[in-house]
Amino acid sequence: MSKVVVMDHPLIQHKITHMRDKDTGSKEFRALLDEISMLMAYEATRDLPLEEKQIETPICPTTAQVLSGKKLGVVPILRAGLGMVDGILRLVPHARVGHIGLYRDPETLEPVEYYCKLPSDVTERDLIVVDPMLATGGSAVAAIQFIKNRGCKSIRMMNLIAAPEGIRRVQEAHPDVDIYVGHVDEKLNEHGYIVPGLGDAGDRLYGTK
Ligand code: PRP
Ligand code: URA
Repeated sequence: MSKVVVMDHPLIQHKITHMRDKDTGSKEFRALLDEISMLMAYEATRDLPLEEKQIETPICPTTAQVLSGKKLGVVPILRAGLGMVDGILRLVPHARVGHIGLYRDPETLEPVEYYCKLPSDVTERDLIVVDPMLATGGSAVAAIQFIKNRGCKSIRMMNLIAAPEGIRRVQEAHPDVDIYVGHVDEKLNEHGYIVPGLGDAGDRLYGTK
């Protein structure tokens, strides 16, 4: 079974609280998601492997550590996942970005796919799938399956807020995918929204409601 890492850092919790507030406007909401994504990426990359490299400082030759292994890829689930990309790229600027377009049908709550563009070397990368909201888990399960079908094996998932139902569904469908989450909320309501949550992340990011 995959691991679920809850980011209990006080800065992350403080910023999530501001995002939840219904009086927080799009500009601030975007800025907060960007900052939190960078902080979360720091934690979500904690186990990346290192290797030794010989270098020379101005003082002497020395053996120092650099990242080894595969290169990173970030895969936002459109639209709301886009709001997490820049924060992550500030930490790992050479990561490539793939996009998966999915929206949740408001009646069935099932994901509908409308776009996919991944880096050509995607199978050789460690991927982080990002979406602020993990609600029923339908979108996440479909997105991960999609990139697995293209041959990707090393995948982790990063969400700002998750419902317990969504975490369970992703773990059942993809037991190899670790989940890094800012906060685990109480439940889903009858419309599939996370409670207390923050409302519709895409609409709040882009002011479309
Ligand atoms: C939201 C959110 C997730 C999905 C989560 O996107 O960003 O992708 O819902 O719900 P689920 O876990 O029940 O699938 P939405 O479908 O509203 O599309 P948007 O990002 O374009 O607003
Ligand atoms: N999608 C959102 O944007 N918010 C929710 O609470 C659930 C799904």
